Amino acid sequence: MRIAMIGTGYVGLVSGVCFSDFGHQVVCIDRDGEKIARLDRGEVPIYEPGLEALMRKNIAAGRLTFSTDLAAGMKDAEAVFISVGTPARRGDGHADLSYVYAAAEAIAAQIDDYLVVITKSTVPVGTNREVARRIRAARPEADFDVVSNPEFLREGAAIEDFMRPDRIVVGLESDRARAVIAEVYRPLFLRETPIIQTGLESAEMIKYAANAFLATKITFINEIADLCEKVGADVQSVARGIGLDRRIGPKFLHAGPGYGGSCFPKDTLALVETARAHDSPVRIVSTVVEANEARKRAMAGKIIAAAGGSVAGKRIAVLGVTFKPNTDDMREAPSLVIVPALREAGAEIVLCDPQGRKEGEALLGEASWAGGPYEAAESADILVLITEWNEFRALDFGRIRAAMKGDLIVDLRNVYLPAEVRAAGFSYVSIGRS
Ligand code: NAD
Ligand code: UGA
Repeated sequence: MRIAMIGTGYVGLVSGVCFSDFGHQVVCIDRDGEKIARLDRGEVPIYEPGLEALMRKNIAAGRLTFSTDLAAGMKDAEAVFISVGTPARRGDGHADLSYVYAAAEAIAAQIDDYLVVITKSTVPVGTNREVARRIRAARPEADFDVVSNPEFLREGAAIEDFMRPDRIVVGLESDRARAVIAEVYRPLFLRETPIIQTGLESAEMIKYAANAFLATKITFINEIADLCEKVGADVQSVARGIGLDRRIGPKFLHAGPGYGGSCFPKDTLALVETARAHDSPVRIVSTVVEANEARKRAMAGKIIAAAGGSVAGKRIAVLGVTFKPNTDDMREAPSLVIVPALREAGAEIVLCDPQGRKEGEALLGEASWAGGPYEAAESADILVLITEWNEFRALDFGRIRAAMKGDLIVDLRNVYLPAEVRAAGFSYVSIGRS
């Protein structure tokens, strides 16, 4: 199959690389010339474990190329994916669909033979029908179908998620499109990956409902964690105790500083707006959005309270700034709220993150950066863990204690054992563990 991938970001690049690894001929297209130039040199512009090696393998095999030229990239393509960004629109929270529609209109101009246009970007209900309408308006004679194929990969585990998904969701309305999709995903069909075939609207809704449900699960355990602290319970025991019930499941029950990332925050907001537009409120999701925003702000208060009510003049070492480990993505990261609030409260900040510095330097303002956790701890009054990178899990607490001036550790991800940290002479505060 000849596949064109429009938008070569976290989703487009991973999908393009994986499709080429399936044996397809893939051109990844992006309007960002610098990104394409780097990819042409074999460099991956994002941090995603395993991606560079797989990409180089498929470039070498002649199955994967990159281009800024949409017309050239789409030549002879049988399937074209739209995987451009759909960020929250400034001001109203609706998904900004301008990139999707721009891509659709650019595709319309290039249709020769029958083409399947597949939307992988996360788009609100009705968007795929509008994509089809716009292509039809631009090229009334064109032979094409539009398919909704939302993506469920997670950053940091993207290749594994793409290669071994829990399911594939496709919204489509023609047998010809179904045949093309079957070919595109053949290796996964052969592995008996469950395929959910629906109409366009249901496929679009599945993506938002899935993300909103996961965001709700996290927010639920976060609020239970706060209550655990007040009543003398341990949220990790509670999460295990409820997670073993197969109707609930153990995943996404890790209490923390609030969810971040490029998707949960914007997708929950967009779902609330879709619901508002259809006069069919999703009250639970609205509350999740509100609770999560409040939680990120509350984390700075928690640190200040642990420090005895003030961090003015205190040196705080922050471990982890990305929204989760194994990515360099800083979008909606809790650190973007917590770090400025601590600085505003008078603290001096030292930051440390295995991959977050490049993005984080511009976003996190005045702070110094340390090369590792021990360097960050040097002369610090307080050590705060925000993102649970593996590099921060197995710390030598004796060494940290010797480096630090103060003795307070605030662990917003519950990665340390309270007894061990306290035995090393620290005062230790975590989430939902009284
Ligand atoms: P991203 O911002 O990393 O990448 C988008 C890319 O599209 C950019 O490189 C941009 O230059 C390019 N682009 C925009 N308009 C273009 C055009 N007209 N022609 C060519 N290129 C264009 O975004 P992302 O994180 O990959 O997300 C893409 C979509 O996938 C979003 O809708 C998102 O919600 C969804 N999604 C993301 C993830 C994730 O983990 N990041 C997972 C599942 C779904
Ligand atoms: C999430 C979904 O998991 C993917 O299925 C989906 O495709 C993607 O959004 C998307 O639509 O873009 P991602 O944002 O990469 O993936 O990362 P997650 O692992 O879901 O984490 C999201 C946030 O929730 C992070 O800030 C993480 O720290 C937080 N989280 C996650 C918790 O606080 N507790 C948990 O138990 C799990």
